[in-house]
Amino acid sequence: QKLEMELEAIEKGGYDHFMLKEIFEQPRSIADSMRGRVNSEEGSLQLGGLSEYMGKLADAKRIIIVGCGTSWHAGLVAEYIFEELARIPVEVEYASEFRYRNPIIREKDFVIAISQSGETADTLAAIQLAKSKGATIFGVCNVVGSSIARETHAGAYTHAGPEIGVASTKAFTAQVTVLTQMAIAVAKKRGTISEGLYRQLLIELENIPRKVEQVLKAADKIKEIAFIFTYARNFIYLGRGLNFPVALEGALKLKEISYIHAEGYPAAEMKHGPIALIDEDMPVVFIATKDSSYEKVVSNIQEVKARKGRVIAIVTEGDSLIHSMVDFVIEIPKTHEILMPLLSSIPLQLLSYYIAVMRGRNVDQPRNLAKSVTVE
Ligand code: G6P
Repeated sequence: QKLEMELEAIEKGGYDHFMLKEIFEQPRSIADSMRGRVNSEEGSLQLGGLSEYMGKLADAKRIIIVGCGTSWHAGLVAEYIFEELARIPVEVEYASEFRYRNPIIREKDFVIAISQSGETADTLAAIQLAKSKGATIFGVCNVVGSSIARETHAGAYTHAGPEIGVASTKAFTAQVTVLTQMAIAVAKKRGTISEGLYRQLLIELENIPRKVEQVLKAADKIKEIAFIFTYARNFIYLGRGLNFPVALEGALKLKEISYIHAEGYPAAEMKHGPIALIDEDMPVVFIATKDSSYEKVVSNIQEVKARKGRVIAIVTEGDSLIHSMVDFVIEIPKTHEILMPLLSSIPLQLLSYYIAVMRGRNVDQPRNLAKSVTVE
């Protein structure tokens, strides 16, 4: 017993929980998911598993992304990026819905299955169905040799390393990193992005691990904010564009480990429902980085403040406007808009972590949840 506890302490590498360790590993895990793939100096981007299937991806009439939970959120981020850069239509599906819907699948469809464990039953069944209809199946898995990895035609591993905490953190950012690389590579192949943008994205990608380190420096500040909101009963997370799936993921993290009811919404949809919930007891987390929807998000923040909501905003460093409007800000470094989710998701991981710890929750093994769901 004592030995087991000591071993576990060693595995946690000095952190109180695996989840915290895994959050702090992200500068390295994101770098690992690009290692040997991106080289901005040479202007090269190669995903070994994709090279043979690059033609299929570039010619695909449609990309269908399937996954569950956090992996589905990574798919939503990827939808924006593939459509924006490569101009290929993308549909993102819950694997469980897709498989039981008699979906329309054609041979020119390129199906991407996202799964940390590679064992999720619904995701596995979804790709088996798509495969039987003649589509190309590509896996983005973390666990090497897992069932989904074996069932696909090809794939790219995320290389995030083992993830022990039930709430997915570093696997999510690694999935987004791999999918982003795929989108940039196919956009280059299809000629839908300029050489200049291509080069810029490679450089920015290489800078992400360093910027994640910078984001992690806000941990103490986030802990203080978490302390203030420890006993909140509900939370709303709002974002637009690429930050909408980040809002969903932030809300999911909080639900999973703190058991606080949390909802993620596209900020503009707030007025079609959630705005009715807002009062002085309702914390609202805005992901409000300087991007193409910044001005719109600012007016959504005003709408919440006018109803006395308490706002925590994730902003780009140096943003004084939002600073003057909201209760708490967490700053993250600038990067290209496409890559922002890799930075903006991290403060939300930390916020949910600290709130859960303060509430005395079993962070690494929350009640009722499993790390991989191998039954449907
Ligand atoms: C479970 C886990 C989640 C995970 C989801 C999908 O619900 O608790 O963290 O996102 O399954 O798992 P996968 O291994 O397919 O990514």
